[in-house]
Amino acid sequence: MGDGGTPRASGFERGEARKTAEGLTYLSGFGNEHSSEAVPGALPEGRNSPQRAPLGLYAEQLSGSAFTEPRAHNRRSWLYRIRPSAAHPAFTRTQNGTVRTAPFNQTVPDPNRLRWNPLPDPAPETDFLAGLWTLGGNGDATQRTGIAIHLYAANASMDRVFSDADGELLIVPERGGLLLRTEFGLLHVEPGHVALIPRGVRFRVELLDDSARGYVCENYGAPFRLPDLGPIGANGLANPRDFRAPVAAYEDVEGPVEVVNKFCGNLWTATYDHSPLDVVAWHGNHVPYVYDLRRFNVLGTITYDHPDPSIFTVLTSPSDTPGLAGVDFVVFAPRWLVGEDTFRPPYFHRNVMSEYMGLIEGAYDAKAEGFVPGGGSLHNMMSAHGPDRETFDRASAAELKPQKIDDGLAFMFETRWPVTLTPHAARAEHLQQRYDDVWQGLQRHFRP
Ligand SMILES: [Fe+2]
Repeated sequence: MGDGGTPRASGFERGEARKTAEGLTYLSGFGNEHSSEAVPGALPEGRNSPQRAPLGLYAEQLSGSAFTEPRAHNRRSWLYRIRPSAAHPAFTRTQNGTVRTAPFNQTVPDPNRLRWNPLPDPAPETDFLAGLWTLGGNGDATQRTGIAIHLYAANASMDRVFSDADGELLIVPERGGLLLRTEFGLLHVEPGHVALIPRGVRFRVELLDDSARGYVCENYGAPFRLPDLGPIGANGLANPRDFRAPVAAYEDVEGPVEVVNKFCGNLWTATYDHSPLDVVAWHGNHVPYVYDLRRFNVLGTITYDHPDPSIFTVLTSPSDTPGLAGVDFVVFAPRWLVGEDTFRPPYFHRNVMSEYMGLIEGAYDAKAEGFVPGGGSLHNMMSAHGPDRETFDRASAAELKPQKIDDGLAFMFETRWPVTLTPHAARAEHLQQRYDDVWQGLQRHFRP
């Protein structure tokens, strides 16, 4: 556990969790009709809900889309479990901690460019859920539209189970490995990987290191999918087979287990008399994934200019307007820059979309200083942003040889609506006070 716990027990538990994490096997492919059974014969053949499910299990469907959504977007899984999910006591309200949910209307939307340092270290015994800290968001969770941007900082493994009815969770670790025990099985994520937990799926986060820190995009809207590739062709960007789903693994635990359910913005708790992570077999396409961002096939120019950063889209949550995402998850991964007569860093920009950026490691090529791993920046709708003065001066004078950018891994949640902050994000001590200064001193060069 954390600083206040027993270090020997903690080290042992983390060692065991790491051994488990590093020995995992996976199923391959985004959007596939996967199937898996932890006990041979647990998965029914030829039907979903036989009169008596195999091995005395209960059959249960988990719907991630309406029954009648088009086949290409339809998401559901069948779970074969020791007890049906319906076997639980009443939920009662519990403290929301620093978790907040859209609609966000407690602060005035801010047109200023904003940047934060990393979250401060958490108090001892802070687990992933207690360490979730909402920066802001948009839309309305009850209307299944928009996002929340959270950060997390934890130093203890969860001994409770969490599920989010409000949206799917894209977890982006920046520090510390995680073992995610989900209803579908176990996932191992390290900084540089992301995990995607579908709406409603129960899971527990165990720490593989002394502390864990990172980012979460809670997507209330349409589930993330791979972007269309258009003229790029059949391959490129994030390749489907690099998304890995768990194999079935279950807990057969009798005894009190706290289950926390996030529902329409509030946390609700119930104490079950068994673990709900008791799925012995499953099949379907509403499943969690892990993805290694370094597998991203980065495409860019081989002539001049650089494409818009949408070329770096890993996953997109479409809206009802073609091409307009509720949110895109975009990665700035190591890549070669070869553009001729080209200003190579990201260009100066005003965007109808709103951009939250985080840094997983190293540095970002548009900011020479101040944007640090674990920190983040928000450039809301139409706010002017771009390289800082030092980066501009350097890039404008650089000799344009082929250049490898290999010391950074940054990402962006780019969303259709402005992001409104939570009061605690707007007043945070780690909110930088002089971010505007990075664009001071951009010299006048005009020579009519
Ligand atoms: Fe931008």
